[in-house]
Amino acid sequence: MSQSPDGGISKMETDEGPVLPVDYRPQSWRGLPMEAIHRQRQPFELEHLPAVTAGNLHRVMYQLPIRDTPPRPHKSPGKWDSEHVRLPCAPESKYPREAADGSTSIDSRWGMIERALLQPIESSEELQNAILSYNTTYRDQWHFRALHQLFEEELDESETRVFFEDLLPRIIRLALRLPDLIQSPVPLLKQHKNASLSLSQQQIACLLANAFLCTFPRRNTLKRKSEYSSFPDINFNRLYQSTGQAVLEKLKCIMHYFRRVCPTERDASNVPTGVVTFVRRSGMPEHLIDWSQSAAPLGDVPLHVDAEGTIEDEGIGLLQVDFANKYLGGGVLGHGCVQEEIRFVICPELLVSKLFTESLRPFEALVMLGAERYSNYTGYAGSFAWSGNCEDATPRDSSHRRQTAIVAIDALHFAQSQHQYREDLMERELNKAYIGFVHWMDMPPPGVATGNWGCGAFGGDSYLKALLQLMVCAQLGRPLAYYTFGNTDFRDDFHDMWLLFQSEATTVQQLWSILRSYSQLMKEHSSAKEPREQKATKKKLYEFIKEELKKATPVEAGTPGTSGSAEAKSESKASVTSAKTSPEVNKKTTQQSPDLFPPQSSQDDSDSSPEQGILMLSDDEEANAMMEAASLEAKNSKEASNSSSSAPAKSNSSTTGTVSGGRQLTLLEMLDTHYEKGQASKRPRKAANAEGQAKSRKENNDVQDKEDFVD
Ligand code: APR
Repeated sequence: MSQSPDGGISKMETDEGPVLPVDYRPQSWRGLPMEAIHRQRQPFELEHLPAVTAGNLHRVMYQLPIRDTPPRPHKSPGKWDSEHVRLPCAPESKYPREAADGSTSIDSRWGMIERALLQPIESSEELQNAILSYNTTYRDQWHFRALHQLFEEELDESETRVFFEDLLPRIIRLALRLPDLIQSPVPLLKQHKNASLSLSQQQIACLLANAFLCTFPRRNTLKRKSEYSSFPDINFNRLYQSTGQAVLEKLKCIMHYFRRVCPTERDASNVPTGVVTFVRRSGMPEHLIDWSQSAAPLGDVPLHVDAEGTIEDEGIGLLQVDFANKYLGGGVLGHGCVQEEIRFVICPELLVSKLFTESLRPFEALVMLGAERYSNYTGYAGSFAWSGNCEDATPRDSSHRRQTAIVAIDALHFAQSQHQYREDLMERELNKAYIGFVHWMDMPPPGVATGNWGCGAFGGDSYLKALLQLMVCAQLGRPLAYYTFGNTDFRDDFHDMWLLFQSEATTVQQLWSILRSYSQLMKEHSSAKEPREQKATKKKLYEFIKEELKKATPVEAGTPGTSGSAEAKSESKASVTSAKTSPEVNKKTTQQSPDLFPPQSSQDDSDSSPEQGILMLSDDEEANAMMEAASLEAKNSKEASNSSSSAPAKSNSSTTGTVSGGRQLTLLEMLDTHYEKGQASKRPRKAANAEGQAKSRKENNDVQDKEDFVD
């Protein structure tokens, strides 16, 4: 709101009435001011990760210490194996080449790529043909309609000409520098592995230039059992084949990035000089928190909840949450254009995580520190639009990383919203947020900037997800900045709940107990046969919590295991103690690799075996199968109670989800029951392809890739 020259308030009017100056507009946030979220420190005072040091759990792709900017590549022998990225310039990357006389020879694929890209390319058709010349398997499948539309309809003639005459040659030149910018093997951040990887921004730009030109071998086959079927896509071909204005806008963001970072023949001063670190966190059983034992007070979490603003704009210096897909980036190289996809195209260095990060398991997360923002945007989803250059002034840390920390955590996708209140699935979301928010450094952890995680394309209830994230922040002692993305009612409801937690001194374990009761109530509701019963059991979550908190009169001390009992009180004084000790207790073992979970005593560089994986959902697909089973169970119990309305339904675990004593089946017991009965297929139904919901790689066509025969 600009002041008029005479210092008065300008008389601007809009159709909603006078435009109030900022200090007169109703405050968009509730709770504590951002200063409290920053712990009364400067925004970048608290660090998210330790300085970059090479080790067997942290691969550094450039020379340390950094003497030149951009850093020089680290050199070590290349590897062509299942633990490293198969680089297109590797000597082992070969390709069948048909000679004029019809004979076939096996050639270096990199040579083919160079020959194809060093030809003059003056149109999107010629670019498509060049790319297809080293991806011959897809000659009849890849039609780069988005690329053609961008140049033939969206951009004007001069912009198109500048692209083909100037920018594309720069992208190609950078891509073909792969052999000298990447001189050591790029490790895959695989499942069950705690590992870090640091690359220079220049190396990332070179890898992304190769992705832009679809040069990575074996990454196009979506065959279920192919080598990279559990990895996100990296070659941009799927983006080029997509349709819609948002796709064109994403392409503009990506091309703008290359305009910023690709050197020209005469001038390399625009090459970014920094570094980005990727940390895969894979939780172990001893890291699991027993939420029913956590005495952390919810009201002690410094909370700032704002109906305006975005995580990326307001969350500077905080741990910013990426509402991820387990295949990182989700639909960014397809039609998707919601929170994660937008973040990945305005900060394209994040895209390189798709090259080496295997899909996330339920107790895994990826932290990304150092990515730079290059673009501004307006709109969201279908209305998303690139809106020009962004000069990212975020300061760098001692390792030359922009101090922007982003954590990718994938929520569960709820095709039926009532599933999200199941205890096992709420616990899965708690543990997912926990592995993302846990902090392994001595200094106090920076705050978390988050929002409606899992509550858009993934169909979650923001009222529940906000509480789950608050619980994790309470457990970890992290301030919480929550952006409700325009929802003022929810902002006020969440804030009121936090005030109630303060006045009632509610702990995590008490809220967890109430949530489990609500879970039971929802279960009864879904199986209730009479509308009046449904009415009786249908309660809004926060209404239910308030009732339960008011009901909870202090229990006589000495009643074992209750919040009022002596042991509970003694625990509330001590740190959280539980069968699964919270990692803070064994903090000292984390010093040697504080950005990772404490390595197992037996853990070396090799993968910890999957059976060491946590005793939880072996895979979210089982969660989906369980939700399918739960729907079956609800249907069965409704039919059962309808058919024998007089006699109580027989407590058969396979229909009522409880064992004879009435205890709810655990998720895995439920699954076993349904698998035995063949009621739950091992593979879930196709996920509803909600906007932004990336089609699972498993859902795409199976395409056999010629490279599979050759290498
Ligand atoms: N800042 C704060 N809140 C945001 C922002 C932002 N920049 N962008 C969106 N939101 C809010 C909106 O309210 C949105 O509905 O977060 C909600 C959830 O965003 P989604 O992206 O739909 O996240 P989710 O439901 O977890 O779905 C994840 O979508 O982006 C893909 O790859 C992702 O497949 C994954 C799926």
